[in-house]
Amino acid sequence: MRYLGATLLSLISAAWAAAISASSVAAVSSPAAADYPKTDGLLFNIDGETKYFAGTNSYWISFLTNNADVDKTLDALDQAGHKILRVWGFNDVTSQPGGGTVYFQLLSSGGSTINTGANGLQRLDYVVEAAEKRGIKLIINFVNNWSDYGGMPAYVTAFGGSQTTWYTNTAAQTQYKAYIKAVVSRYANSSAIFAWELANEPRCNGCETTVLTDWAATTSAYVKSLDPNHMVTLGDEGFGLAGDGSYPYQFGEGLDFAANLKIETLDFGTFHLYPSSWGTEYDWGNGWIEAHGKACEAAGKPCLFEEYGSTTDHCGIEGKWQNTSLSTKGLAADLFWQLGMTLSTGQTHNDGFTIYSGSSEWTCLVTNHVAAID
Ligand SMILES: *[C@@H]1O[C@H](CO)[C@@H](O)[C@H](O)[C@H]1NC(C)=O
Ligand SMILES: *[C@@H]1O[C@H](CO)[C@@H](O)[C@H](O)[C@H]1NC(C)=O
Ligand SMILES: *[C@@H]1O[C@H](CO)[C@@H](O)[C@H](O)[C@H]1NC(C)=O
Repeated sequence: MRYLGATLLSLISAAWAAAISASSVAAVSSPAAADYPKTDGLLFNIDGETKYFAGTNSYWISFLTNNADVDKTLDALDQAGHKILRVWGFNDVTSQPGGGTVYFQLLSSGGSTINTGANGLQRLDYVVEAAEKRGIKLIINFVNNWSDYGGMPAYVTAFGGSQTTWYTNTAAQTQYKAYIKAVVSRYANSSAIFAWELANEPRCNGCETTVLTDWAATTSAYVKSLDPNHMVTLGDEGFGLAGDGSYPYQFGEGLDFAANLKIETLDFGTFHLYPSSWGTEYDWGNGWIEAHGKACEAAGKPCLFEEYGSTTDHCGIEGKWQNTSLSTKGLAADLFWQLGMTLSTGQTHNDGFTIYSGSSEWTCLVTNHVAAID
């Protein structure tokens, strides 16, 4: 989208460009390399400002078919002072869905196709364009570990192998890279990209941790070769690091947090927090946050507390995690899971973790948190 716009601009006269510069075409002006979101020591710098940032996750925004709903959602974040929004940049299918259903990629061993049509990446285009207008920065993710919206299981259906051989399966990796190229080249010059993310919660259960580390090194270097200006991150849950030895600290899911942080082409670390799924206490989460801060400090890169949720007492439990994150060295931003909105189709998905815009929970976890940061 930006790509086409910039090409068009160079073809038309400067006068005409100036005349229309107030219209949406103005959005094609690419920032200078120095102005893209970047790391600054153990923090992030966005539009020239280095500080701790707050944000959230919306897996559904890229699949909305009503532009006004996208605008309404981003207006709510903009008004709240949220700067970072993490979205799904993937939507994989293995058979052609029925009329109008949004999907981004059809995976098939006989030849995959990337859907750049109105029910394809043009939906993501609108999110990027709307974010540019409001100064919101997006984390765009390329594949899911889980089967929601296709994910690695869809690649396995199309190309064979298994969830754990996905990382080294040539056919799967070739198509995954083709998809990355399609997405990254679409928005490489956009001011709305915070970072590219290799996967949502990649795991390789029972594998040597080098499998994921090698894959992350190769893939992140590939992304940087396509777009040297934007940050790249892994998107993992932060498993596998020194701590109390409970399940999340173990290496059994094939992740080594400190080893992955050392990868030169990964700009910052990510971790998630779901005690209700992990068999740990909610309070244990505060130590989990601090352990990642310590690892990030040691690596000299910021940590993004990228997803967190409790199934009960959102304000009390998650509010405490936010406070811990804000006061822990090495922690640069937090994004709660997940954003809730009331749109033209009604309330967005309530998975028990959802914080709805305008609710009393929004006041404590968004309004008060942003005020505490500032
Ligand atoms: C995007 O930016 C790169 C440099 O970072 C530049 O080489 C390329 O021409 C730009 N593309 C467009 C379409 O502006
Ligand atoms: C996500 O990854 C883990 C580890 O490989 C695996 O056990 C799990 O089945 C995956 N999820 C799906 C839905 O494939
Ligand atoms: C978080 O810190 C703020 C002060 O910045 C305080 O008002 C609030 O009660 C704390 N939240 C929790 C849940 O501890």
